[in-house]
Amino acid sequence: MKLIIDNANIDNIRSMYEFFPMDGVTCNPTILAKEKRNPYDVLKEIRDFIEDGELHVQVVSEDSDTMVEEAYRISKELGKDTYIKIPTNKEGLRAIRSLAASGFHVTATAIYTQMQAFLAAKAGASYVAPYINRIDNLGSDGVRTAREIHDMFRNYGFQTEVLAASFKNSRQVITLCEYGIGATTISPDVLELLIKNDSVVAALHTFRDDFEKLCGKGKTMLDC
Ligand code: E4P
Repeated sequence: MKLIIDNANIDNIRSMYEFFPMDGVTCNPTILAKEKRNPYDVLKEIRDFIEDGELHVQVVSEDSDTMVEEAYRISKELGKDTYIKIPTNKEGLRAIRSLAASGFHVTATAIYTQMQAFLAAKAGASYVAPYINRIDNLGSDGVRTAREIHDMFRNYGFQTEVLAASFKNSRQVITLCEYGIGATTISPDVLELLIKNDSVVAALHTFRDDFEKLCGKGKTMLDC
């Protein structure tokens, strides 16, 4: 399962890359707006830092022709390997089909239903991004939706992968990880929760205390 950061702050991204085995960065217009800088300045900094890691950038227009034009600009500024995030509505489907046919990598986003995912995959998207937590908040089951989409793609032999997005807790991530979903994109806060465990902290304190009783305060295997 690929592990992608859902964030556009370069300090957060550097810090997450330092400690976690990351595969790339996703963002959306709301995430970019938080940086209060020109979007391309922010994205070029991210692109330089992650080198050939995956970068997913969303279009903002609402009609398919302008979505396609935005994709060409994004690709020109950030490289042809950039994944273009296209919202999965009727206009978006037209843009996905056109861009995929022209060789773009497309991430179909704002996925709330299995049917959107099916249509996006058939139109040529490389990824579909179901919004796990937002689906949960509609009274449905985001994890189940993502699993059903994953199964549907396998049943049809589609190459499209699920890039599960919008997580609020580590349980949602772990369940999809166990299921073998293709990729998840996670905010730095939720990423930290994947490894936070008070039992681990307590176990390590005991190991250190016992060793110090044997060899003295501050001693390690380096200088005992
Ligand atoms: C990804 O494609 C989405 O932009 C993002 O993960 C949404 O996350 P949120 O529901 O936490 O805003």
